[in-house]
Amino acid sequence: MTPAAKTQTLVITIGLPGSGKTTAARAWVAAARRTRVRVNRDDLCHMLHEWWTGWPEHEEPTGETLEAAIRVLLASGKDVICDDHNLRPEAWQLHAALAKEAGVRLQVWDLTGVPVKDCIARDQYRGQRGGHRVGATRIRAMRRAFTRAGGMTSVRSTLNCPVVVPEPQRPGPVTTCLLPLPEAERRKGDRQP
Ligand SMILES: Nc1ncnc2c1ncn2[C@@H]1O[C@H](COP(=O)(O)OP(=O)(O)OP(=O)(O)O)[C@@H](O)[C@H]1O
Ligand SMILES: [Mg+2]
Repeated sequence: MTPAAKTQTLVITIGLPGSGKTTAARAWVAAARRTRVRVNRDDLCHMLHEWWTGWPEHEEPTGETLEAAIRVLLASGKDVICDDHNLRPEAWQLHAALAKEAGVRLQVWDLTGVPVKDCIARDQYRGQRGGHRVGATRIRAMRRAFTRAGGMTSVRSTLNCPVVVPEPQRPGPVTTCLLPLPEAERRKGDRQP
């Protein structure tokens, strides 16, 4: 029997900071490095502006770069995962539009079931290890905003695509690319030609 043709896919993760989106996405890419790629808004912001800021004047170029990257990668035949939190309707609707435009399947990875207290603890641990720390107040606010936007019920009804809960991955090393500013500045100083 001929195996079914593989379907090109845009995967988006949905989950709070610390829920394990990047850890799961990296494992997925590592399992098929030739065909799968990962893109991430915060990583791009850091690359473009040498810091994760969240400033409005950085949001626009970051968003445009993210969109362009996803378009180009889908057009080149890659399976793409965008491991942003994607908790806002604009985010998940944008990805649905990009998948439709490219004629590829959209799949959602639902990490919203990870308890908020675990997300906060992991985020705190990551901060203590020199990584980016979002903080408990912001994480709780993001959870409330997602619930107000209709939560996964709204995601399912507006996207009408497969939703899966990824296997929890064994945590890897703490990501060091999203450093708090003082550390980023220090490292910049270290990087002499
Ligand atoms: N299944 C897991 N069990 C325990 N710790 C985990 C698990 N998955 C990830 N972690 C740890 O939690 C921290 C955050 O993980 P990760 O960076 O994957 O989260 P994230 O959802 O991408 O967060 P953010 O939205 O801030 O980028 C990391 O230190 C990671 O090692
Ligand atoms: Mg992440």
